[in-house]
Amino acid sequence: MIVAVTGVILIVFVVGHLLGNLQIFLGPDWINGYAQHLRDLGPLLWLIRLFLLAAVVIHIYVTIQLAIENRRARPEPYVDREYVKATFASRHMVISGLIVLAFIIYHLAHFTVRVTDPRFALLKADPLGHYDVYSMMVYGFQNYYVSAFYIVGLFLLTLHLSHGSSSFFQSLGFNDKKLTPRLAVGGRIFAWLLFIGYTAIPVAILLGFIRPAQQL
Ligand code: HEM
Repeated sequence: MIVAVTGVILIVFVVGHLLGNLQIFLGPDWINGYAQHLRDLGPLLWLIRLFLLAAVVIHIYVTIQLAIENRRARPEPYVDREYVKATFASRHMVISGLIVLAFIIYHLAHFTVRVTDPRFALLKADPLGHYDVYSMMVYGFQNYYVSAFYIVGLFLLTLHLSHGSSSFFQSLGFNDKKLTPRLAVGGRIFAWLLFIGYTAIPVAILLGFIRPAQQL
């Protein structure tokens, strides 16, 4: 139940964050203004950040405890394994989750703390006086390696959510012969929609559809 509740909190964040990021397609004023609004929240922003951090830490701690307990319950490996129902995604939740964590740590260093690319410090404020998040994202994703790393990270997030986004119903006690398989399909569609939404940003930048608002 703890894993399910913290997972839902993180899913709500991932959906909200995507909607915020998609404003890059509406132009610099939108996304730069949005980022400024978030920063203007001041102490409330820090409260939200701490809340999310707590959700991530608890989610990881409890899932790793569960994985250890599972292993302890059967120290001897099976001689022969044949999976009837468990999907690839559901069998690799720990590894996909840990790689997503590595992606988030890099992502925070990249776009929030901005220590991985010295050019970001050279960006001037936009005409409305806001930090130019728009150009930062464009310059960031114009690097093929960075974009490729994001797409791999997003793929693993998709794998993780394609199982996690529907399995929380079962963890919270909801199990129905008819509805549970439909929720599993819905969970997979939801995860792939997120993948398309997020990857549209680096892909549009690499294809030259979105150009920086200022030259460096
Ligand atoms: C193409 C994909 C993504 C883009 C373009 C993107 C963009 C950004 C940007 C620009 C910021 C900094 C905002 C600012 O400081 O003004 C940010 C922060 C952040 N992103 Fe992403 N992001 C992406 C994917 C993700 C994913 C998949 C996750 C989580 C699974 C994530 C989690 C975060 C977190 C936790 C922050 C820090 C928020 C804060 O400052 O409190 N991002 N992202």
